Amino acid sequence: MKINVLFSNIFLDELYFTGKTTVIIDVLRASSVITTALSNGAREIVPVSTLDFAMKISSDAFKSQTLLCGERNTRMVEGFNLGNSPLEYKPEIVAGKSIILYTTNGSKSIVKAKFSENLFIGCFLNLPALARHLMNLNLDFEIVCAGTNGLFNLEDAVCAGMLINEIQTQLSDIQLSDSAVASVILSKQLNKNLYSFLCETEHGKLLIENGFLDDIIECSKYGITDVIPYFVSGAIKRL
Ligand code: MLT
Repeated sequence: MKINVLFSNIFLDELYFTGKTTVIIDVLRASSVITTALSNGAREIVPVSTLDFAMKISSDAFKSQTLLCGERNTRMVEGFNLGNSPLEYKPEIVAGKSIILYTTNGSKSIVKAKFSENLFIGCFLNLPALARHLMNLNLDFEIVCAGTNGLFNLEDAVCAGMLINEIQTQLSDIQLSDSAVASVILSKQLNKNLYSFLCETEHGKLLIENGFLDDIIECSKYGITDVIPYFVSGAIKRL
């Protein structure tokens, strides 16, 4: 099994992903929101890459079954139903709903990788379950770290490294690219206390500044769900 890590997707063409198995990671917070929403009964998440498109598809005949969600500069977009905080995605709010999700980095990364043969969403919450599934599939795969504004971020790279590490401890025939090796080294250095680690990252500090400390507590929970979000025909559903 070959594993590669992409620390940013901005230089890649959508066609790069054709036929590939891909995992998108945006620990703070899009992947954690998607995993939480599906765990709490949301029917599907429709990731979008522009605000205009989010508005357009939410104004159709199915409005009562749809929630328009996401953030700009970490805060809920005016006129949306929910922001990008996992704590907002409670069962009584999301059960049975289609969620249209726009976020600065996460939803855009998913849309970019839409031609993948298999497209999964990962974060700390579902990492062991995702690792088990990837081992069963036994296919080469790419991990896309959504990063921050097209740049490297530490939390996604560490999560990628931990995912690889889970697999490496069980399977022997693994080939890692240099970026995958770098992620594993980083994760071994930094994974001791996920909550304190996330608080010290650039995006973690920004979230705390903007009043979202509780989100960091949520996003740092390790392996609390077996839900694996899977993108198929334009929407993310539970595998
Ligand atoms: C993103 O996609 O950029 C993030 O999830 C930003 C955030 O809301 O923290």
